[in-house]
Amino acid sequence: MARGLRKGLTSYGDDGFALFLRKAFIKAMGYSDDALERPIVGITNTFSDFNPCHGNAPQLIEAVKRGVMLAGAMPMVFPTISIHESFAHPTSMFLRNLMAMDTEEMIRAQPMDAVVVIGGCDKTLPAQIMGAASVDLPTVVVPVGPMVVGHHRGEVLGACTDCRRLWSAHRAGEMDEEEIAAVNGRLAPSVGTCMVMGTASTMACITETLGLSLPMSASIPAPHAERVRLAEASGKAAARLAVEGGPKPSDLLTPRAFRNAMVVMQAIGGSTNGIVHLTAIAGRTPHGLDLDTLDEIGRKVPVLVDLKPSGAHYMEHFHHAGGVPKLLAQLGDLVDLDAPTVSGGTLRDSVANAEDVPGQDVIRPRTDPIKAQGSMVVLRGNLAPGGAVLKQAAATERLLQHTGRAVVFESVTDMAARIDDPDLDVTADDVLVLRNTGPKGAPGMPEAGYLPIPKKLGRQGVKDMVRISDARMSGTAFGTIVLHITPESAVGGPLALVRTGDRIRLDTAGRRIDLLVEAEELERRRAGLAGAPGPVLPERGYARLFSQTVLQADEGCDFDFLRRHPGEDA
Ligand code: FES
Ligand code: MG
Repeated sequence: MARGLRKGLTSYGDDGFALFLRKAFIKAMGYSDDALERPIVGITNTFSDFNPCHGNAPQLIEAVKRGVMLAGAMPMVFPTISIHESFAHPTSMFLRNLMAMDTEEMIRAQPMDAVVVIGGCDKTLPAQIMGAASVDLPTVVVPVGPMVVGHHRGEVLGACTDCRRLWSAHRAGEMDEEEIAAVNGRLAPSVGTCMVMGTASTMACITETLGLSLPMSASIPAPHAERVRLAEASGKAAARLAVEGGPKPSDLLTPRAFRNAMVVMQAIGGSTNGIVHLTAIAGRTPHGLDLDTLDEIGRKVPVLVDLKPSGAHYMEHFHHAGGVPKLLAQLGDLVDLDAPTVSGGTLRDSVANAEDVPGQDVIRPRTDPIKAQGSMVVLRGNLAPGGAVLKQAAATERLLQHTGRAVVFESVTDMAARIDDPDLDVTADDVLVLRNTGPKGAPGMPEAGYLPIPKKLGRQGVKDMVRISDARMSGTAFGTIVLHITPESAVGGPLALVRTGDRIRLDTAGRRIDLLVEAEELERRRAGLAGAPGPVLPERGYARLFSQTVLQADEGCDFDFLRRHPGEDA
């Protein structure tokens, strides 16, 4: 039963007086009693001049409002913080939990019967869903949508897989100043999120699979009229949820929904960041997420979607090929289609309406996959007792089984200072090791895991090397890169014990990453480290809260006090 303005009355004497006061104030903006007596749908506003990915948010907000009003409810827009990948120092990951807290508390604090959250740049959908899951008010997610592709000299460009590729070409001397400047204006040709299968697209696909958004919401390009109509339809759906009281996030975020999300993440060649975010979302429910289940799913689920960085196409092509509903149709019995969605039905309804596009080769059938196995594997071993992640779909086949000599960098700063040094003792067969880049170490677990190929090797034509770290990597990057090594080095993980010259073995088939050094020697090194100063605890503010309470990657890097522990009652 919708309570509208009566919800969460502040205690100013009796409830009647509190409501009287609330109405008196809100009427200052010109609302009528007719408007104020209706169910209320809150709408988050994450527009910011610092967030070009959300550049279409104002238009989407207007459309959601229209949908809410067409359905007879009352829309109320409120701001929350906004995070863009390139404008969030020290890292956007550092701020994700702040946005989750902001979103959660503003939904809790203000009277609304349902909420529409509009977001899309990498950390925003995870933050919004984490917050919404904790409040458990009926929620509809509206992703802002992917950018359309860019073009340069007859070539199709996508942010930001091609940002990296072309910058590497520039570094290697293959592209001059003038051309790289021209490319700079063509990589992100519209508002919306990166249009490869990076973190933003991964999270949008996961959101749709979890049933939190309407069918096709992950893939409609940001500038398309269809996305505006989707926003209007989302407003209508939210108004219905406001009246009916559900489904709520707790009705949708079930073990079967999380399993479906992991299947889709493997089948789309999703971003490794998606694992951290999905773990964080699951950590806000009584269910949790198990890395070994993700690996086990990956052994059965093929990569079916042919998108950059592991494949050839971009999000708009995925959209025109039928989007997530078509993918779910191709996955068949690998997904549980009885999972409910905010549209009132189940995933089966989305699949029933999936468009059949003759001749499309972006979403493959299971009989003709891009890769027979899923995109991500979970590694363990003496270097990663708590797990590590490798996106095998974006790796170099011959490096997946590799033993090499470690070349260790102590930090991002150390790496930046030495990686291009012509005197650096490094060969293409070495394993580049970066540490102190985990959740607490850096802090905020930067996307530093994509260590650049040393310039002198790049000039020789070396395109990939085995690289390992406790950092994350942009979902738009590619290479044979082991990430999220847990526990991180800054809290004493074995990564802290590696020395340049040690041998490291990556055994992807056996799901292991090992330091080939005797256990006694490692014990000696560990004893030598004891007493060494740990990371400095920031003196105040959010940075202090972050350092004191952030969890490791295998727990989604949420704050310990925000997580609901598996098995806890809802
Ligand atoms: Fe926003 Fe890539 S920078 S999605
Ligand atoms: Mg990214």
